[in-house]
Amino acid sequence: MKTADRLTKIPPYLFMELRKKIAKARAEGVDVISLAIGDPVEPTPAGIVKELANRAKDPENHRYPTDEEKGMLRFRQEVALWYHARYGVSLNPENEVLGLIGSKEGCHHFILARINPGDAVLMTDPGYPAYRASILMGGGEPYNMAIRPENGYLPVFEDIPPQVLKKARGMFLNYPNNPTGACATREFFDRVVAFARKHDIAVCFDNPYSEMIFPGQERLSFLMAEGAKEVGVELNSLSKPYNMTGWRIGMACGNPDLIAAISKVKENTDSGIFNPVQYAAIYALKHEDEAVDHMVAVYARRRALVLKTLKKSGLTSIRPGEPSTCGSPSPRG
Ligand SMILES: Cc1ncc(COP(=O)(O)O)c(C=O)c1O
Repeated sequence: MKTADRLTKIPPYLFMELRKKIAKARAEGVDVISLAIGDPVEPTPAGIVKELANRAKDPENHRYPTDEEKGMLRFRQEVALWYHARYGVSLNPENEVLGLIGSKEGCHHFILARINPGDAVLMTDPGYPAYRASILMGGGEPYNMAIRPENGYLPVFEDIPPQVLKKARGMFLNYPNNPTGACATREFFDRVVAFARKHDIAVCFDNPYSEMIFPGQERLSFLMAEGAKEVGVELNSLSKPYNMTGWRIGMACGNPDLIAAISKVKENTDSGIFNPVQYAAIYALKHEDEAVDHMVAVYARRRALVLKTLKKSGLTSIRPGEPSTCGSPSPRG
């Protein structure tokens, strides 16, 4: 069977390749510690699982999801409350919040909602591999913005050639960053807003690690920047903070036109998120702050162990995200 030409441009999905390599090594008896995809091994907190189980018993919830592609209003209201409590950001649940089947889905639908064939889309290099695939599937042209330690792993917009800027209509950003762990600053967000405004670039700020910050750091959302809602959307997710990677639930928040456009893509492709999963997510956002703090403490301990081991092995390591280093060159240890 001949399949679509568009797929030939897309490299094999990195994490699938890594998964195969890990499976092969395990089959050969190697004791592998996987540092591949960020998939918590700890279970989802029990209260969230219980809420899902209870809601799954109600036949009303076995039907197509309420408000289908948008996500139920109660979920969107809870997201708005969470954004206000965590980041001081005000969102209208009616038109500035949309439920997603994870942040990855939002990246893809952002492209379909905004990008025309031949438009350039800016993304960081290194970066999360799903961005490139989504851009290519949507007919866009990915442009890599190198991120380097000397710039705090932030892109330098002045380095982008004018011919790329002319056709750039979208940009993916992601801080706390996968894979570098670098964090951004409010000052950087202001620069992003000014740059996006000047060049008519829609920003997709992919922020699934917003809660994964270490002591002394500020919890940041791109939507905290003045004017952010004019230029883009932020994607977030319950996957990482609540150990819910398999549940597939997240949210897009921000620019109402983009939210409406992504919603239009969704209403023609999926029928939303299983209601019990949405109820469980409402429960998580409302009641599980302590579970997030616990996981962050676990990650901080693991990071300290990795840094110590790297040092002992004579390898240079960089400590991203320390208060003095966010958005500026990081110290080597
Ligand atoms: C930067 C980044 N964005 C998005 C995702 C996907 O998150 P979700 O599970 O919400 O689709 C990941 C997962 O590893 C990620 O690292």
